[in-house]
Amino acid sequence: MQETPYRGHGRKKFSLTSGGPAGTMRRLPQSQSKRQDRLMKYPMGWKNFVVAVALGGVAMGVARAQVAVPPVPAEPAKPPFAKPADAIVARRAAFKAQGQIFKAMKDANDAGEDPKAFAADANWLVNWSKQIPVMFPPGSESGDTKALPDIWSDRATFEKDDAAYTEAATKLAALADAGDKAGFVKQFGATGATCGACHKTFRAK
Ligand code: HEC
Repeated sequence: MQETPYRGHGRKKFSLTSGGPAGTMRRLPQSQSKRQDRLMKYPMGWKNFVVAVALGGVAMGVARAQVAVPPVPAEPAKPPFAKPADAIVARRAAFKAQGQIFKAMKDANDAGEDPKAFAADANWLVNWSKQIPVMFPPGSESGDTKALPDIWSDRATFEKDDAAYTEAATKLAALADAGDKAGFVKQFGATGATCGACHKTFRAK
């Protein structure tokens, strides 16, 4: 086969092969040349190339899929309320925001993310927890609410349950501030238990 010195032409006609003397190009049959051309562009072959791109995209997607941290909710409305129904609306909105924060924290924990992103939200929880008792004024036991009558008849226990929540949330916020992932995950469970304890006694199903 004729040896052709490489003159810088495109790779279409000439392909570098390991067979020829160094620095020379060897003319290859067209079909083989084309295959080499493809191999140079996609050394792993088309199919693997496509798979690799797809996997790369997935891996990047996982890396980017940070759990959305809910924005710090507005400060809940405080008493006095013009009418009991206003207290119900305000407390339910705050409980709902709190539930969204808690859900996002759980997702972030499951994904192994840094709790520091939740520091501001966790501190909001602490403040809200301290406000809970005043959000159940007399007259707000009926209407569009799941609050159970025991909140008014056994106020001491209700406030004790709430104090347990405040204590747990305060520790949770400190761990978020410190970016202590393992500590946060553990304390998240402990805090969730205080939500459940109060709901069991004081919230209708
Ligand atoms: C001291 C008691 C108490 C604690 C602690 C408490 N809750 Fe509740 N929660 C209630 C009561 C009572 C209601 C019902 C309020 C109503 O319907 O008026 C409620 C309602 C809710 C709701 C429903 C809101 C809606 O859409 O109406 C969610 C969600 C919720 N709580 C989440 C939580 C989470 C999460 C925690 C802990 C991080 C928590 N709660 C801690 C007493 C508590």
